[in-house]
Amino acid sequence: MKILIVPTKEAAIVRAADIVAAEVAAKPDAVLGLATGGTMVPLYEELAQRHRAGNFSMAGVTSFNLDEYVGLAPDHPGSYHHYMAEALFDLTDMRKDHAHLPRGDVADPKAEALAYEARIAKAGGVDLQLLGIGQNGHIGFNEPTSSLGSRTRIKTLTDSTLRANRPYFDSDDAVPKYAITMGIASILEARTCLLLGLGEAKADAAAAMIEGPMSAMCPASALQMHPQTTVILDEAAASKLQLTDYYHHVHPGGQESEYS
Ligand code: F6R
Repeated sequence: MKILIVPTKEAAIVRAADIVAAEVAAKPDAVLGLATGGTMVPLYEELAQRHRAGNFSMAGVTSFNLDEYVGLAPDHPGSYHHYMAEALFDLTDMRKDHAHLPRGDVADPKAEALAYEARIAKAGGVDLQLLGIGQNGHIGFNEPTSSLGSRTRIKTLTDSTLRANRPYFDSDDAVPKYAITMGIASILEARTCLLLGLGEAKADAAAAMIEGPMSAMCPASALQMHPQTTVILDEAAASKLQLTDYYHHVHPGGQESEYS
């Protein structure tokens, strides 16, 4: 894992946007794996701003999101379809027919999960997978004890995730209890991964992911097996790491090392 620690949240966003923009500049028809959640909002704002300035185009990009809530139609304000349209797609030149998310409102969500895997494979797999991290170490909605060999499927969300999602819904009962999520093995097939962790609330999860044992108790720790993963943390999210001096030594200020 390449660990880039930057002083502030703002610097982390710029660093992550630079990596996404470089990927798309090098490969305009890149397949991006996209995430949702609060962490991604400022990153998508930065990418949309670069688009408005004429420095970033998604016209050739194909995207696959990690997850969607079971039972929510794309026009539901709490759905990830809605989130992505508002946060990124409608603010850039992303082609709607090239933007894929699992459909949560289908009659057979299990079949949708299988079909979603097939769609990713047909597109040639993911070039760059964006990831956030849950406070419990989840990636996508692969909650603790998810199989590290899991594929796209339906997961029951934990109480911790339901609580984190509560602000986005009108009542406790409205918070979806299930999601279709890419599995951990599906995520690990991306050619490169970029995980962004911001703030003190992510410090324990970041430490477990990077320096803990690889374990289903911290699903993000499976990224230790991925050969091309970059983790960008602000100082607060990096505050519980043990080898911080080494990470700063290799990547001063979060910059690339001589041999990157
Ligand atoms: C959502 C997803 C989740 C989030 C994680 C962090 O698509 O993949 O794993 O990345 O729950 O969420 P925030 O950024 O809201 O803390």
